[in-house]
Amino acid sequence: MNHEEYKIISQYVFDVCGIVLGEDKQYLIEQRLSPILGELGCNTFEDLANKLGSGNSNFFIREKMLNAMTTNETSFFRDEHPYVAFKEKIMPDILDRIRERKERSWQRRGSKVSMWSVAASSGQEPYSMAMIIADVISGKSPDVVSLEDFGILGTDISSKVLSKAMEGRYGALEVARGLTTEMRNKYFLLDGDSYIVDEKLRGIVNFKTFNIQESFLQIGSFDVIFCRNILIYFTDDAKRKILSQLWHVLAPKGYLLLGAAENMYNLNSDFETERYGATTIYRKPS
Ligand SMILES: C[S@@+](CC[C@H](N)C(=O)[O-])C[C@H]1O[C@@H](n2cnc3c(N)ncnc32)[C@H](O)[C@@H]1O
Repeated sequence: MNHEEYKIISQYVFDVCGIVLGEDKQYLIEQRLSPILGELGCNTFEDLANKLGSGNSNFFIREKMLNAMTTNETSFFRDEHPYVAFKEKIMPDILDRIRERKERSWQRRGSKVSMWSVAASSGQEPYSMAMIIADVISGKSPDVVSLEDFGILGTDISSKVLSKAMEGRYGALEVARGLTTEMRNKYFLLDGDSYIVDEKLRGIVNFKTFNIQESFLQIGSFDVIFCRNILIYFTDDAKRKILSQLWHVLAPKGYLLLGAAENMYNLNSDFETERYGATTIYRKPS
């Protein structure tokens, strides 16, 4: 691939999903797109650059390229610390909130707590959240709190990873990454040589494709948002826009968690910060 072709292809990736591919990422495009060049109707990168450069792309090409170019690395309870903060710091407050909402009985219908896994990839993040919720509420009377009081939305730009997330089926290596045997036995069903997430947990997690470069107006409002290991791929301008939109969809006193290598320095000063162990928790004041 020559420099001109690289510029056209990396610009296309930037335009469709905001991922910045610097000058040194030519190998990444070659590695990820070479195997699907034929499916894109091209023999060479020159063909692909010509197609994209002349505006001759279509939905199929866009989907194929997105699925190939996004980095979907994830695991259950990734980095551990944010999940400790979620369990020990955030969940007790959420339970109080549920109790308060239920006490105001005229608001009962709207009493669900909504959570959002912004870049859900193949589902390990939202299902980890669901496992913690199930653990925290176990043993409590269903009149006080039950799984039905929670709704988790998992979104991602890649339809390929989301279809795996929806299936909730994982191989032995995937469950070995981050899950204790106890959690696996409690929340997964062995089916052949793969593990399926418990039906009750799947019942509170919904998935849909969503590009976080777009408007958040239709996405809803959330008490807890996990937006982890995605901002790193964007420009500072894009990060500012995303953080500002997250602010607007976060409920008053809501919680936002970012990835271990992400922070809001120089990007947004509206959120309050709180440390819990090794985790920074971002909050929207009431
Ligand atoms: C590295 S994974 C992070 C998964 C999970 N949050 C975690 O921390 O384990 C990043 C995900 O962001 C998704 N992504 C990239 N650009 C996106 C965009 N513009 N809108 C929504 N999702 C995007 C990718 O498809 C990928 O699945």
